[in-house]
Amino acid sequence: MYASAMNVLVIGSGGREHALCWALSRSDGMGDLFCAPGNAGMEEIARCVQVDWKDTAVVVDFCYDRNIALVVIGPEAPLAAGLSDTLRDAGFRVVGPSREAAKLESSKAFTREVCEEMEIPSPRSMNFTGSEQAKAKSYVEANFQEDEKIVVKADGLAAGKGVVIASSRGEAYEVIDEMFDGKFGEASACVLIEECLEGEEASLFYLCDGEVALALGSGRDYKRIGDGNVGANTGGMGAYSPVEELTGEICAQVEEKIVNPALHSMVLRGTPFAGFLYAGVMLTSSGVKLLEFNVRLGDPETQVVLPRLQSNFLQLLLTSCSGAGALRDVSLEWDSRSCVTVVMASRGYPGKYKTGERIEGIRSANSMRDIQVFHAGTDRDSDGGILASGGRVLAVSGLGESLVSARSRAYEAVRHIEWSGGIYRRDIGI
Ligand code: AMP
Ligand code: GLY
Repeated sequence: MYASAMNVLVIGSGGREHALCWALSRSDGMGDLFCAPGNAGMEEIARCVQVDWKDTAVVVDFCYDRNIALVVIGPEAPLAAGLSDTLRDAGFRVVGPSREAAKLESSKAFTREVCEEMEIPSPRSMNFTGSEQAKAKSYVEANFQEDEKIVVKADGLAAGKGVVIASSRGEAYEVIDEMFDGKFGEASACVLIEECLEGEEASLFYLCDGEVALALGSGRDYKRIGDGNVGANTGGMGAYSPVEELTGEICAQVEEKIVNPALHSMVLRGTPFAGFLYAGVMLTSSGVKLLEFNVRLGDPETQVVLPRLQSNFLQLLLTSCSGAGALRDVSLEWDSRSCVTVVMASRGYPGKYKTGERIEGIRSANSMRDIQVFHAGTDRDSDGGILASGGRVLAVSGLGESLVSARSRAYEAVRHIEWSGGIYRRDIGI
């Protein structure tokens, strides 16, 4: 236990960060909670500050000035840029991996190298650099049938858009050319070509201390804009937790065959991984395989994972920062109920959309039992009302005894929200 109240800074402005702030604000031992830059929802429980994470010297000064005891970094970009290293070097506790350890997300080729080294079950994968464009195509020709699915990926961060599942060799060649022609800039300077795995996808979340991974549960998100998984890819239009197919046995396999070997590899490389780890897996007919790691929590999965956590979140995060192995004997308390979140987005998202529309009814939805409305792209009007200011705007989370009842709770709350420009999927959790 820590003697005095702790001041905490959360970096980010999305629904994930609102959920992080919400879980922190409910923890005993909290002092002042700050978020940079935050949103209108976070403003109700934290002080939003205009501190740009890219200006690392300003972030460090802010942490000194406000006597920050813990910094929680939400999104991947500041992690890949090394914000954790700067803050740790300045003496602050940080939840989030170092720049080197963040390569588990910022370089898919790096992750596949770790998989190969540690024999982590994953798709067959090869990577090629710009000077190897012809070699990449020959690899496709030699290893895939004409009409076989082929996965082509940009190595680096591409805001979730860097993966294409080509349905023929011809299409794969086109994607390879596009990527090497700089479609994703530096992120596609290296391109991966992978076997396409078939099966059900799911995600598992962990908090890591450099040595031990503590499970935070599972989730499934809905990436496409339209009901029935059609239309454009988005950041995620909803999610639920836990995922029934992820039995205790499968979760144990993911830990034993995927997560623990990856953490061990990072120790051997001299760049131990501490922070949140997200394992995206495919449940295939030949066992569970790793699709990707992310070095942060998911958005909107955080909005279904944290409402189920009953343990003191602040205490948990502080423990994860107190050295390798510190999480070994921690056991967490969970609400056994299911959680569903429905994302409300601006009409037009993920393409062009209008902003500035007024949203009513959030307070009424929030006052419902077992409902929590998390904000993403929201702003405040001069008279205090809530305005839509982004693509994904709200995530409405509901708890229920079963997935079915959590879903009906969440949709009931969505009906309290009056926003003519808002859209949402009707099939989250089905
Ligand atoms: P990633 O960013 O690597 O997770 O890829 C994003 C999405 O692309 C995943 O969530 C999967 O739906 C899909 N994907 C990536 N790699 C593969 C693969 N080898 N086989 C099938 N689907 C994949
Ligand atoms: N919802 C997917 C992600 O956060 O990457």
